Amino acid sequence: MTRLFDCILAGATVVNQDGVGPRDIGVNKGKIAEIGDLYAASAGERLDCRGLHILPGVIDSQVHFREPGLMHKEDLESGSRAAILGGVTTVFEMPNTNPLTTSAAALDDKIKRATGRMHCDFAFWVGGTHDNVADIPELERLPGAAGIKVFMGSSTGALLVADDEGVLAILKATRRRAAFHSEDEPRLIERKSLRVQGDVSSHPVWRDETAAIRSTERLIRLAREARAKVHVLHISTREEIALLEAAKDVATCEATPHHLTLTAEDYARLGTRIQMNPPVRGKEHRDGVWSGVVQGVIDVLGSDHAPHTLEEKARPYPDSPSGITGVQTLVPIMLDHVAAGRLTLQRFVDLTSAGPGRIFGLVGKGRIAAGYDADFTIVDLKRRETIRDSWIASHSQWTPYDGKTVTGWPVGAFVRGVKAMWDGELTTPSRGAPARFS
Ligand code: DOR
Repeated sequence: MTRLFDCILAGATVVNQDGVGPRDIGVNKGKIAEIGDLYAASAGERLDCRGLHILPGVIDSQVHFREPGLMHKEDLESGSRAAILGGVTTVFEMPNTNPLTTSAAALDDKIKRATGRMHCDFAFWVGGTHDNVADIPELERLPGAAGIKVFMGSSTGALLVADDEGVLAILKATRRRAAFHSEDEPRLIERKSLRVQGDVSSHPVWRDETAAIRSTERLIRLAREARAKVHVLHISTREEIALLEAAKDVATCEATPHHLTLTAEDYARLGTRIQMNPPVRGKEHRDGVWSGVVQGVIDVLGSDHAPHTLEEKARPYPDSPSGITGVQTLVPIMLDHVAAGRLTLQRFVDLTSAGPGRIFGLVGKGRIAAGYDADFTIVDLKRRETIRDSWIASHSQWTPYDGKTVTGWPVGAFVRGVKAMWDGELTTPSRGAPARFS
């Protein structure tokens, strides 16, 4: 009997836990139904993927989409459009919106705004504060919640838990892995006078490596005391890689493409476009974060997509806001690193789908395996493209990589069995839904 699928992705090289090889993928009712030689099978649609690689859908576990409250920078529709055009099929969005996502009502509001309007699937981080500790056990378990996010150093927005007692109370209340912006607030306050008016290259002097290292040391100690699991966002120093290598009992961690690609030398060329927290630093730190990728210490890549308008970025430092767009450029920038031999395609998959699936307990996402959601990122490893501001779908319409030519490009994206993007065009009306967690 001829097997019948809703869709067959035929002739690609599939990259998954089974290795890298030629396989067809049959999809039924939004799920992966069969992987193998499906030459003789029938399908509603047979997509010719010869010459392309199919990866599990890329999961970006750190984006700021600014809705509600800051929608001149970004909103859930535009941010998710940027995600899909860049080959990202699921995002976890951050709580420093206005109002802050610190209550069940605020989370519910985001889920309602997102469902059917976002182009990719999603979950929302809930901000942990001094005031909502008692609610955390309930908040972190709500459908659509990615977990609890805590700012230990102040950045964009009002979320901040600077003291050990506050962090410890939150950690004791969590069961899921909580995510941390790890910079030491007392040190940031102490060094504020080191900011040089009009000179963004003083940003990493103010927010120095000690601020990040000291905070991450504190966090590891507190996580052990509370017997809690933590996730350290956007690692920016080589010393934190050594700390985290020795803290796998409690901590996972993230690297951003920015900290792997840019260095302090780029402030002269790119100015406030590369101002972010924690800052882009000297080459030795970029290389240190790379060693964390190569040695397996880094668990996931996240873009920390944090858009501000160019008008806002044009204010003289330090009035210029911190944050860089990134959700749309994560895949091309990292595929370019693959092309240059800095990491393998399998390690890229480990960092962008298997990794987040494993550490956050996603249900049905993160692998190309029978029964999983048919989420795919389809890439052309040979395609050379020049990244341009005009390609960026974010409201803010800019990227620090404007003019950069890369090798490797996302050419297709599937979300739960539906082709959401093909060759740079959205191919279906938005139908994003909350991701599920075990
Ligand atoms: O540079 C940053 N911008 N780092 C953060 O942690 C927050 C982000 C934002 O929301 O703008």
